[in-house]
Amino acid sequence: MRPPVCGRRRIPAGAVRQALPPPAAPAPAPPGKRAARTPVSLDANVAAALATIEKTVSKCRRCLLAKTRTRTVFGAGSTRPPVIFIGEAPGAEEDRQGLPFVGRAGQLLTKMLACVGFGRGDVYITNVLKCRPPGNRDPQPQEVACCEPYLLEQLALLKPRLICALGRHAAQTLLKTDTGINKLRGRLHDYHGISLLPTFHPAYLLRNPADKNKAWEDLKRIRLLVDEKTG
Ligand code: URA
Repeated sequence: MRPPVCGRRRIPAGAVRQALPPPAAPAPAPPGKRAARTPVSLDANVAAALATIEKTVSKCRRCLLAKTRTRTVFGAGSTRPPVIFIGEAPGAEEDRQGLPFVGRAGQLLTKMLACVGFGRGDVYITNVLKCRPPGNRDPQPQEVACCEPYLLEQLALLKPRLICALGRHAAQTLLKTDTGINKLRGRLHDYHGISLLPTFHPAYLLRNPADKNKAWEDLKRIRLLVDEKTG
């Protein structure tokens, strides 16, 4: 990663929401008149639908990972993300907190995002698997088969313009290929009609800092693609 001269840094959407007063309650209808329908924002609908799936996931027993997990890790971030970052599976810290990418790799991911002007609340972060494989072993195909439908539901609600697959495992699983990450990254692929750009996993970058400049190129490309599509 280049020295973190973080231009274009945006105020995280969550911070803005926190600073705003809660919406006023609708005025009661005069006697004999029907109350006007309360406008429900799209964001609130998406948040509610996500919360319903998250509850289902928290009770999921489709595979044996349910026996060893501490908490399920559903995902976190904006309800209208231009881009979703997808890792392979929660690690130890994520399993403890129930949140994605909050360990050492997650801290690097947060810095990488900040360097291209994204706060964690501007994007959405999740994993292919919602439960930690014991000892951080690779996810098994049968676990992926059980869990991927949850990811598809998340994508259908969040409607991102772009997906960034973090690391070899997420990229190979989503793209149903065994091509290596070095060949997959740097190219746009398709996942259920959504453009997908793979990059290195932040945990890999912690072990192989020489590849940070390639990840930096990928992130700049993601920023450009998002700006092109929103601009
Ligand atoms: N690695 C992942 O792939 N996902 C996490 O949430 C944390 C570490």
